Amino acid sequence: MKIAIFGYGIVGKGVYDIVTGNKLSYIEVAKILRRKGSEKSLPIITDDFNDIINDDSIDTVVECLGGLEPARTYVIESMKRGKNVVTSNKLLLATCYDELIDLAHEKGVYLLFEASVGGGIPFIENLISISRVDEITGFKGIINATINYILYRMTKESIDFDVALKEAQGKGYAEADPSSDIDGDDVLYKTIVASNVASGKSYSIDNILKFGVRNLTKEDIAFFTENGLVVKLIAEYDGINKMLLVMPELFDKYTAIANVPLNNNYIEITCKTEGRLSFEGQGAGRYPTAHSVVQDLVRIHQKSAKPELTTDKVVVCYKDFTDKFYVKRKGEKGHFVNGMNEKELRSDDILFVAKVN
Ligand SMILES: NC(=O)c1ccc[n+]([C@@H]2O[C@H](COP(=O)([O-])OP(=O)(O)OC[C@H]3O[C@@H](n4cnc5c(N)ncnc54)[C@H](OP(=O)(O)O)[C@@H]3O)[C@@H](O)[C@H]2O)c1
Repeated sequence: MKIAIFGYGIVGKGVYDIVTGNKLSYIEVAKILRRKGSEKSLPIITDDFNDIINDDSIDTVVECLGGLEPARTYVIESMKRGKNVVTSNKLLLATCYDELIDLAHEKGVYLLFEASVGGGIPFIENLISISRVDEITGFKGIINATINYILYRMTKESIDFDVALKEAQGKGYAEADPSSDIDGDDVLYKTIVASNVASGKSYSIDNILKFGVRNLTKEDIAFFTENGLVVKLIAEYDGINKMLLVMPELFDKYTAIANVPLNNNYIEITCKTEGRLSFEGQGAGRYPTAHSVVQDLVRIHQKSAKPELTTDKVVVCYKDFTDKFYVKRKGEKGHFVNGMNEKELRSDDILFVAKVN
């Protein structure tokens, strides 16, 4: 198997290190794409995409660039030339899902993306294998390592959001512009990708209720602690009611999910006959994420069955929520309310909202 890696950053270099490490002699890294002007520390590094696309001996490309362009163009051109694609890019998948899935079907190539959701946790692969024999009725959990780190540190040390964010940036978990994490967009992209796999359909990204943690303060956290609660940013998929939700949620301090530490992720999958399964592990970082990418390469090498994914459209719908919520509006102190409907949740004056479990 001959591969090319697009991008030599955190994930791309991790993939190179693992593949060239020791056990995977059947995978050859033929080329690595870096930007023009970058240091060419290895002879296989190129800054010309054409060197890769025109090399028919390269059967599989690994996209670790991030962002939409040129990642989208490179992935599409690679599939058009009959190359398999492995990507860790949730933004690309969430926004171009139908186009990429349809093209992979048309060209008969693999499009695998284990690392795009849950970092090192084998989440997507389990959704694929469970859905072959059972109905996935839902999943729920923590799928953003940066925000889990920030919330964990705020809860443990009573520190401000900005202090915890700086710590996360210092450890390399948070990007220089962390808006996508803080406002819940990163979790939204991952939730869509995972819901599509769980359902075998394609959820529309429009209209999904999404809340972040931008206006969470240490005073809110102190109030949660007084009430024996811990806040986590949660991805929720209810396949029966076609409901996707990205929202901070409050859990009893003694539950497993409330105690997920640092940059870890934790996901529970519920299935019709198998019941509930849970997964915990590192949700980000060079080697956990690269491990998931390499697992996809091994699946391609072993000619594993391709996932049964379609682009049949599904639109989310929301019933009134009967749950208890913590709501903080402009000019008000945060307080608990019982039940909220979609219209109330979409109100502009909400600064922070969390669902109580
Ligand atoms: N880091 C994680 O823990 C993690 C976990 C799960 C998923 N992911 C996903 O994996 C992807 C990569 O993330 P990352 O953390 O590895 O990012 P990163 O460290 O910024 O690496 C991206 C690499 O791609 C290169 N690049 C960007 N545009 C390019 C272009 N036009 N031509 C050639 N090279 C280009 C960058 O070069 P420069 O250095 O010159 O900019 C950089 O080396 C993203 O989609 C991310 O969401 C990351």
